[in-house]
Amino acid sequence: MAGASTSLHGQRILLCVCGGIAAYKAAELVRRLRDAGAQVRVAMTDSALHFVSAATFQAVSGEPVRTTLWDPGAEAAMGHIELARWATRVVVAPATANTLAKLAHGFADNLVTTLCLATTAPLTVCPAMNHRMWLHPATQANLALLRERGAQVVGPEDGPLAEGESGPGRLAEPTAIVAALPA
Ligand SMILES: Cc1cc2nc3c(=O)[nH]c(=O)nc-3n(C[C@H](O)[C@H](O)[C@H](O)COP(=O)(O)O)c2cc1C
Repeated sequence: MAGASTSLHGQRILLCVCGGIAAYKAAELVRRLRDAGAQVRVAMTDSALHFVSAATFQAVSGEPVRTTLWDPGAEAAMGHIELARWATRVVVAPATANTLAKLAHGFADNLVTTLCLATTAPLTVCPAMNHRMWLHPATQANLALLRERGAQVVGPEDGPLAEGESGPGRLAEPTAIVAALPA
């Protein structure tokens, strides 16, 4: 099995989940990351919450899940900065076209983009979207910028997409994402 031999022991992975159909696969990714030995905390965008609940990620990660920058309890101690410092790697999966654009241009307008800007941990993005969104020159230019800055890009894979079409845009399989992460 692709990810089974990857050891992520000692790694603290901040998984940022964005609002794409593949958000449900991020729950399996949490399981696979933990199986590989990583500690995982999850942050979600507002759009991600339309696809899967925070309770799912809390259950699979065994950790509280952050869904907003504006959480008075967590932010009394600047929780987002704490979380950004805690991470030894940030993985954005699924990474939407929207969030990729924001990350490429240094936006910090929600919890996920703020965490990504506030951390010095290496960044892995796992794009997932409609193939036309993926092939759009704007998305490709954003990806090129992120790559230039050292971000690791895993996927997307080619194949059937949620809309009944086919092409590049499927989220890489959770096992393939785990296998791609540096030990
Ligand atoms: C049903 C549905 C499915 C969507 N799937 C995707 C997707 O797979 N990838 C993507 O980039 N955007 C997708 N979108 C659009 C995003 O949800 C939208 O751009 C949103 O602003 C993303 O916000 P976020 O990047 O903050 O999570 C979808 C929208 C809807 C309504």
